[in-house]
Amino acid sequence: MANVAVVGSQWGDEGKGKIVDWLSSRADVVVRFQGGHNAGHTLVINGVVYKLSLLPSGVVRPGKLSVIGNGVVVDPWALLKEIAAIQEKGVEITPDTLLVAENCALILPLHSAVDKAREEARGVNKIGTTGRGIGPAYEDKVARRAIRVCDLADEAVLEHKVEQLLFHHNALLRGLGAEELAKDEVLAQLREVAPKLLPYSAVVWKRLDEARRQGKRILFEGAQGAMLDVDHGTYPFVTSSNTVAGNAAAGSGMGPGAVGHVLGITKAYTTRVGSGPFPTELHDEIGDKIGQRGHEFGTVTGRKRRCGWFDAVMVRQAIKTGGITGIALTKLDVLDGFDELKVCTGYKLNGEVIQHLPAGQTAQAQVEPIYETFEGWSESTQGARSWAQLPAAAIKYVRRIEELIEAPVTLLSTSPERDDTILMRDPFED
Ligand code: IMP
Repeated sequence: MANVAVVGSQWGDEGKGKIVDWLSSRADVVVRFQGGHNAGHTLVINGVVYKLSLLPSGVVRPGKLSVIGNGVVVDPWALLKEIAAIQEKGVEITPDTLLVAENCALILPLHSAVDKAREEARGVNKIGTTGRGIGPAYEDKVARRAIRVCDLADEAVLEHKVEQLLFHHNALLRGLGAEELAKDEVLAQLREVAPKLLPYSAVVWKRLDEARRQGKRILFEGAQGAMLDVDHGTYPFVTSSNTVAGNAAAGSGMGPGAVGHVLGITKAYTTRVGSGPFPTELHDEIGDKIGQRGHEFGTVTGRKRRCGWFDAVMVRQAIKTGGITGIALTKLDVLDGFDELKVCTGYKLNGEVIQHLPAGQTAQAQVEPIYETFEGWSESTQGARSWAQLPAAAIKYVRRIEELIEAPVTLLSTSPERDDTILMRDPFED
């Protein structure tokens, strides 16, 4: 029996929520290992809608242990608000059911202020961030001046660390002619939130090690997607963490052998929010139709997502760089009723055909997709629960995708409903 990591293989929003929910019903522990409250998952369970950003999806299921690993950047105010909102729906969240790693770096109000101000100053060059302070918080973490969860319990260190943090940030604010931050104010914010957050603080690596030794099933829940990975994505139009499954180990305090099967959640077409290259983007009515049919609006920011054809080159790259062992193909039903469909099988760059997305910003913006065209299907695939219920043209589309991306389709999702899932293999049993 293996543990399972669920990661996005495109630019996020691949429909991880439903798959994670489906898998979390069969896991004992659900762990977030990177990102922060920039992620957005909507879960519908027995008609009740739960909106999650930072909490692991297992939190809504009784008897599961939910863990926020050290790789996550935690905004204590956002976390407490989310906990309260979920508790209001009758879900029990206590320090027995939710653990926050004591070595998580915190997102402070100054981080979201910096994030938004910088985006505005960038103008047309903006990244299109969620404005939640994710980037600035990770910057402080790697610069070794972050305030961490454990610091909230150590008054002497806290004061010194806030001084160090402001030494940096106030120098920048001064340079920009902006108002500086007062140490006492930042300290007061932290002292106020400390007693509310600290009960959840835990030695996560130890608890996960115990769980593993007891043979518990661990589900690692990724956020965003491979093309937003800070190393492997479309840099600089990326998020500030490693989104690939390799980070599930480091971001939770387990060894690489703990991760097990890596399920790459993959949309049957492509979308992205924010700025940056998108080779198969459609600027026509077909792109609009995909967006409308797929309800492609961001969960966190409400932004309209950019839509395009399936890019097999990019997904294959995500599979290789992320160690994805199988994919869950989602939203196939959105493609019902198109006369023809296209899949990108290579790129043209400066007159040459290439089979990968280059790292350079100019090259990424210049690659032209080479398409293979498929006959569409007029039948509905919505709600199909077996392979036999799919039209032949849809089967052909899926089979060709498997061939092109060099990975099997482990799961196929045909509607937002949890049970509308075709299971080819059980990832926990692989
Ligand atoms: P940040 O993570 O807020 O810094 O934003 C950096 C980039 O990642 C932007 O293009 C965002 O739109 C994108 N991004 C961040 N979180 C998500 C997500 O959960 N889904 C899709 N895109 C995301």
